[in-house]
Amino acid sequence: MNKMDTVRPIRWHEDSLKLLDQRLLPAESSEISYDKVTMVADAIRDMVVRGAPAIGITAAFGVVLAARQRYAENPTGWRESIREDLTQLAAARPTAINLFWAIERMQGCFDGIDGDPVERLLTEAQNIHQEDIAANMRMGELGADLIGAGSNILTHCNAGALATGGYGTALGVIRSAVAAGKVEQVFADETRPWLQGARLTAWELLQDGIPVTLIAEGAASWLMQQGKVQWIVVGSDRIAANGDVANKIGTYQLAVSARYHGVKFMVAAPTSTVDMNVADGAAIPIETRNADELLKCGDKNVAAAGASAWNPVFDVTPAALVDAIVTERGVVEKPDAKKILAMMKNA
Ligand code: MRU
Repeated sequence: MNKMDTVRPIRWHEDSLKLLDQRLLPAESSEISYDKVTMVADAIRDMVVRGAPAIGITAAFGVVLAARQRYAENPTGWRESIREDLTQLAAARPTAINLFWAIERMQGCFDGIDGDPVERLLTEAQNIHQEDIAANMRMGELGADLIGAGSNILTHCNAGALATGGYGTALGVIRSAVAAGKVEQVFADETRPWLQGARLTAWELLQDGIPVTLIAEGAASWLMQQGKVQWIVVGSDRIAANGDVANKIGTYQLAVSARYHGVKFMVAAPTSTVDMNVADGAAIPIETRNADELLKCGDKNVAAAGASAWNPVFDVTPAALVDAIVTERGVVEKPDAKKILAMMKNA
C-alpha cells in the first residue's frame, strides 16, 4: 500500500467479515465483525458499508457466510436453502448494480462445487475484492491522464477507498492526479443528508495527506462561476447501456451546472457498475430512504414539526452531460450506446 492509499473498509479475518463502521466516521474508526449473512444484509441497508463496489464486495463475503451456515445445516441441500439468503442480500439496497452483479458472480461458482463450498466461495469473494482494487488503480491512471496540470477538482459524495475495495473510483482518479502533481485543489461537496463528503471524503483524503476544501452543495455553481473548478469527478451506482449515470442525489445538478459553466464532467466506475440490461437511465431503480434522514440530524429534529420530506438518494445524469466515463477497460468520451457496447466487449 502506498502512502496515498491507506484506507481499507472491508476485510476477511479469522473466518469472519470485518467492516469499518462508516456511520461513526470521522469521530470514531472502529470495525464490526460479521458471522451471519442476515447481519450483513442489515449492514448494507443501514449504511455501515456503502458505495456501490463496497456493497458488492460485502455481499460476496455475505454469500460465503451464508454458504458456511447452510452447508453446516444441510450438506446436500445448501444450494436450495441458500436462495432465501441471496434474496435477502439482494433486497438490501436497490440502486447499486454491483450488489446484484456480485451475488450473480458468486452463484456462478455453485455448480462446480463438490462438498464444502466455503473455500471455493471465499476465493471468489477475495478475487472480487482484489480485482476491484486493481480496477480502481487502472481507472486512476486513465482518469488522471485526462486532467490538465494545475487543475481544481470537485467531487460529490464519497467514491473513494471507503466506497470500494480500496483506492476508490473518483478518489482513485484524484489520488493518481495528485501523485502526478496535476492537482491544485480538491473540493468536496458536503453531500446531504448523510454527509458522505464532509464525513467520509474529507476524512479519507486527509488520512492520505491530500488537502481538501469542503463546500455546501449549494455553493457548487458559484464555485464554477468563479472559474475555480476544471473537472468534476464522481463515481456511479449504475451506468445504463446508453451511458446515463445514476449516482448520489445532487450529481445531476452538478452536471447541468458544469455544462453551463464549461467545466468538464468525469464519471469513474468499474465495468461491474455497468448494467447492459437497462437501456437508459429511466429504467434504473432509484432508492428513496426514510424522511427522517432529512427531518432529523442524528436523533435531533431539525425541521419544523409537521413538515414532510422527499428523500430520493440517487439521481440520473443523462449521458449527454458526461464528458468521459472511465472504466478499467478504457475511457469513453461523450458516451452513447455504441461506445459503451464497444467498451464492454473490450474484455
Ligand atoms: O448512499 P451511498 O453512500 O451508498 O452512495 C454512494 C454513491 O453515490 C457513490 O458515489 C457511488 O456508489 C460510487 S462509489 C465508488
